[in-house]
Amino acid sequence: MKHEITLIKGDGIGPEVADAVLRILDCAGLEVDWDVQIAGETAVQQGLHPLPEATLDSIRRTKVALKGPVTTPIGKGFTSVNVGLRKALNLYANLRPARSLEGIESRYQDVDLVVVRENTESLYSGLEHEVVPGVITSLKVITEVASTRVARFAFEYAVAHGRKRVTAVHKANIMKLSDGLFLSCFQKVAEEYPDIQADDRIIDALCMHLVKDPKQFDVLLLENLYGDIVSDLTAGLVGGLGIVAGANIGIGLSVFEAVHGSAPDIAGQNVANPTALLQSAVLMLRHIGENEMAGRVESAMIDAIAKRDRTTRDIGGDGSTSAFADAVCERLG
Ligand code: NAI
Repeated sequence: MKHEITLIKGDGIGPEVADAVLRILDCAGLEVDWDVQIAGETAVQQGLHPLPEATLDSIRRTKVALKGPVTTPIGKGFTSVNVGLRKALNLYANLRPARSLEGIESRYQDVDLVVVRENTESLYSGLEHEVVPGVITSLKVITEVASTRVARFAFEYAVAHGRKRVTAVHKANIMKLSDGLFLSCFQKVAEEYPDIQADDRIIDALCMHLVKDPKQFDVLLLENLYGDIVSDLTAGLVGGLGIVAGANIGIGLSVFEAVHGSAPDIAGQNVANPTALLQSAVLMLRHIGENEMAGRVESAMIDAIAKRDRTTRDIGGDGSTSAFADAVCERLG
């Protein structure tokens, strides 16, 4: 079956890792029409809005997108295209699995965690205000609707993927109303899933426990900012940002992208690890029903990494972005 998928290569290392992944998907035999769209600086340079309506319309039409990272200017310039995209399309759940892979040295083996991050509100509401010069407020918005739907997503994910436990992470001892609402919505939803163990942790203690013994956790549910930070931490536990996948899921629409950013420090050098976007593409293949192909691509990737065949330098290899794509393609025949 031929698919139509929106493609946003992004900027920085985005085009390099996207090209590597497109090659691998082609080697695997994916029949696809890519609807190529742009966002961020690439769009601004063409005189367009950083998040062009054509890009949003394309995803609304195709229902699925593969996206590379897009740079957000720090402390000035346009607001985050990544946050804007998630809000505009109501991609309310951000899924970030972190699993150890053989051949990648890290502090732990056998880590298998899933971070579910609320994707639309909290301190990412973008509601910042200068009260008087030198005094700024930034609004943290937590709603019952968003907290309940992302909690339900986490439990449904746990059921569908044979997970045993969901842990809500919060700071409700200090932010009693906002994080308190997030926690109480979680507890209410948990009652509908008696077969899944449900508990909670305070964010600071969770970080300590994750670093000491990550294997004790299963699915972690966090509001937006905590999820952003903790998912980078869990990426670090399994070898870094170059290998972990991400998916933004909404109602009938999904955008698959790596957890990492545009990595300007290594952009244009053909050294970025394409594994993170490739793992995101594997999630995408399963999402569009290409389960057999997803399995083949994943096995080829796992085997290449386990044999350290042309792996990139962030995971201790000396291969390049394109050479690693060759290594995976050769395994796909
Ligand atoms: P980053 O994730 O781009 O880089 C952090 C570190 O990890 C850097 O040392 C980088 O070289 C390394 N790294 C990241 N991806 C890698 C890969 N595939 N292979 C090897 N090494 C890799 O985070 P940073 O520097 O904080 O952000 C850079 C830009 O990316 C910012 O403008 C930020 O807003 C944007 N960003 C975009 C995201 C998205 O589009 N979803 C997500 C996160 C950040």
